[in-house]
Amino acid sequence: MIGIERISFYTPAYAIDMRALAKARGVDPAKYCVGIGQDTMAVAPIDEDVVSMAANAAQQCLEGLDKTTVDTVIFATETGVDQSKAAGVYVHSLLGLPGSCQVYEMKQACCGGSLALHAALDRVARRPEKQVLVIAADVARYGLGTAGEPTQGAGAVAFVVSAQPRIIEIFPQTGYFTQDVMDFWRPNYMEEALVDGKFSVRMYLRALESCWHAYAADGGLPIQDLDRFCYHQPFTTMAYKAHRRLFTVADVEVPDVDVLAPSLRYNRLIGNTYGASLFISLCSLLEQTPVDMAGEHVGLFGYGSGCVGTFYAGRVIRNYRAHLKREEHECLLANRCLLSISEYEAAFRRRLPIDGSMQVLEESCGGPFHLEGIENHKRIYGRRRREAGANLGVA
Ligand code: COA
Repeated sequence: MIGIERISFYTPAYAIDMRALAKARGVDPAKYCVGIGQDTMAVAPIDEDVVSMAANAAQQCLEGLDKTTVDTVIFATETGVDQSKAAGVYVHSLLGLPGSCQVYEMKQACCGGSLALHAALDRVARRPEKQVLVIAADVARYGLGTAGEPTQGAGAVAFVVSAQPRIIEIFPQTGYFTQDVMDFWRPNYMEEALVDGKFSVRMYLRALESCWHAYAADGGLPIQDLDRFCYHQPFTTMAYKAHRRLFTVADVEVPDVDVLAPSLRYNRLIGNTYGASLFISLCSLLEQTPVDMAGEHVGLFGYGSGCVGTFYAGRVIRNYRAHLKREEHECLLANRCLLSISEYEAAFRRRLPIDGSMQVLEESCGGPFHLEGIENHKRIYGRRRREAGANLGVA
């Protein structure tokens, strides 16, 4: 039995209210809150990037674990900070992980987290005494005033994969789908993603359909045996579309989509986190479902534009609730500072120098780790002097 032993997520201490964004853009707030299904959207201040967010998520995830047992760190991101150095190497250093660890980065848009999970499962299958730390972190950026703007967000998730899963066992049967399409991409010279939004929604659903058939052909569970579902959520109403499509493809009467509500709760508050989104949804499902889910089967669908999809499933472990970080996650989300739209726009426009000059960053609020500054093109990370809770009011 191999699966997830512990899991935790992190999102910056700043967010905007989607109603305020709708008002500023001259849009009916119901479009963002009902049509797209977002209430608030995380905003990363200049001293938070995928490395600092990942370190904050991973530190909480590893609490109480003997770090010498971590043998691999797989970091999935599509908004990495360096073309060469894996972001996980910074995290490895910040967390004091052993030098005998292997660290690498994985990329395939929002599917990276699922692909990293599958690589971790394979590693543990070969070396059952090892523990693999999987991290997925992203800052979703489409640009001010664009159609994609209400589907931005920022966050990181970290989980440990081992042969002693205490939260969810992941079954080996998996369905994959790959097709070379340009529904979403970000050339190396661009800060914001380019997207053909409507096409990306169609490709997501087409990938889901193909993954389901591939999953069934791989000996996966029949749909009636799946009790719960978690879908990649570029925006939360995408999960409703996915759920309806999946049951239609499986030729089974479409159930009430309200059953998805617990798996959407955190994502409604954070927004899109690309590779982390599916696993933040899994945290939400496990932590916000009022009944004990032990023994239940969960179907998971990851989609990464470009595109790759994957459908797989797992079984929730007895006493899983004792190993979740529900209070910490609720506290993180409840204590965020809501920015005005002009503060958000100013934060969005800020850039680090790209000429090698030194910049020491003012400290925002947030988890223990942040980006202290940059010098000679080198990013410098460290611990904050103050942690989440205080309200600076400005990102
Ligand atoms: N009240 C309630 N719902 C409303 C509304 C209102 N006043 N106005 C619009 N809506 C609904 C629309 O009917 C639509 O729902 P539907 O898809 O179920 O029909 C939804 O809100 C979005 O409206 P739409 O006009 O399609 O929005 P858009 O053209 O601005 O684009 C995205 C939406 C998601 C395509 C765009 O935000 C985007 O490109 N995002 C980034 C890419 C992405 O997330 N892709 C997902 C797959 S990876």
